[in-house]
Amino acid sequence: MQTYFVTGGAGFIGTNFIQHCLKSQPDWRIVNLDALTYAGHAGNLDYYTEQMPERYRFVHGDINDSTLIERILKEEKPAGVFHFAAQSHVDRSIHGPLAFVEANVNGTCRLLMACQNLWDQMGRPSQFRFVHISTDEVYGSLGQEGFFTETTPYAPSSPYSASKAGSDHLVRAWHATYGFPTMVTNCSNNYGPYQFPEKLIPLMILNIIEEKQLPVYGDGLNVRDWLYVTDHCDALLEVLKKGTPGQTYCIGGGAERTNIDVVRQLCNIMDERLERKATQQSQRLIRFVSDRPGHDWRYAIDASKIYTELGWKPKFTFCDALKETVDWYLANRAWIDTIRSGEYRSWVEKNYKNREKAK
Ligand code: NAD
Ligand code: TYD
Repeated sequence: MQTYFVTGGAGFIGTNFIQHCLKSQPDWRIVNLDALTYAGHAGNLDYYTEQMPERYRFVHGDINDSTLIERILKEEKPAGVFHFAAQSHVDRSIHGPLAFVEANVNGTCRLLMACQNLWDQMGRPSQFRFVHISTDEVYGSLGQEGFFTETTPYAPSSPYSASKAGSDHLVRAWHATYGFPTMVTNCSNNYGPYQFPEKLIPLMILNIIEEKQLPVYGDGLNVRDWLYVTDHCDALLEVLKKGTPGQTYCIGGGAERTNIDVVRQLCNIMDERLERKATQQSQRLIRFVSDRPGHDWRYAIDASKIYTELGWKPKFTFCDALKETVDWYLANRAWIDTIRSGEYRSWVEKNYKNREKAK
């Protein structure tokens, strides 16, 4: 049995990743450390806590708590680390940037120090890996043409992406300076089960269910490259197993869509699933609202490095995986009720109340 240390595993991608690993890697044990911010839900993994306590351990804690991290690492002596923990929502970073610097920059630095310390104490095992999960948003915005690659210069636009860029630089510096075996992954927009409904796809699904307005920023023509979370989890396993320390891997879904196209497609799927017979029933809820400040226009990834060097490719089509995502939310209303706390309602109020109609 090999132990892997996961940070932020009670969030969206971390939850999917832990479930994926516990199913597909029978000789893995996972220790998940998560601060349980508004975006973290330890209950996502209750099944594993109850059914396989020997393979899954949850620790409630902050990556900035060096004493705690050092104690857990000493107890567990993991074979590697997957670092997901972060403040992750662009709109929230506009309202409160400091929390992003504290979690994403300071937290990553403290985590690196603790992990490198352990690695040194263990005699620098050559198989050890630190996989840092980052975003394509560090590269800024594309125009009509071109794609992000591993060599695209960093040009972050939001406090979120700037703080993730800072964390990427630290992770790379730990390899260059200390020889610590880190790898950085920069992926495009994920979607799938357990995503907190502040992000575009789950927000729209929930609003369609409740027949609330569907707030599309600006003209809705911004483009994102959608990656199904299960494909992302597979890619991260390939990076761990076949990636080279010191390298960066861009991970994209190869599914570029404008926001308005995504929202319309969701409306159509949901009308069918909810048997809302009249054509385009949910599309009448679409409202173009004032734009996000600093809104990046287009993200798109050229993933040829991970295709050719590690043999990974996305398996899901956007259309099929979007339907699976919708079906998961429709089948998990109890999860939605649990996570939609008073904090969620006040966030929605804060972010959407004063968005006047777009001109
Ligand atoms: P999320 O917001 O759903 O989950 C983040 C998790 O981290 C939560 O469980 C939260 O409680 C935890 N956390 C936050 N601060 C912490 C701290 N200081 N200490 C310990 N735990 C803390 O985010 P996600 O969508 O699952 O994203 C995971 C990672 O992937 C992030 O680093 C994010 O930047 C990156 N990423 C996400 C996307 C996406 O589309 N969701 C795309 C590219 C990259
Ligand atoms: P989001 O899910 O916040 O991810 P990111 O900002 O990291 O790409 O947003 C995806 C796109 O959807 C982005 O262009 C902003 C847009 N958007 C809306 O139009 N309306 C919304 O209510 C939200 C949350 C996002």
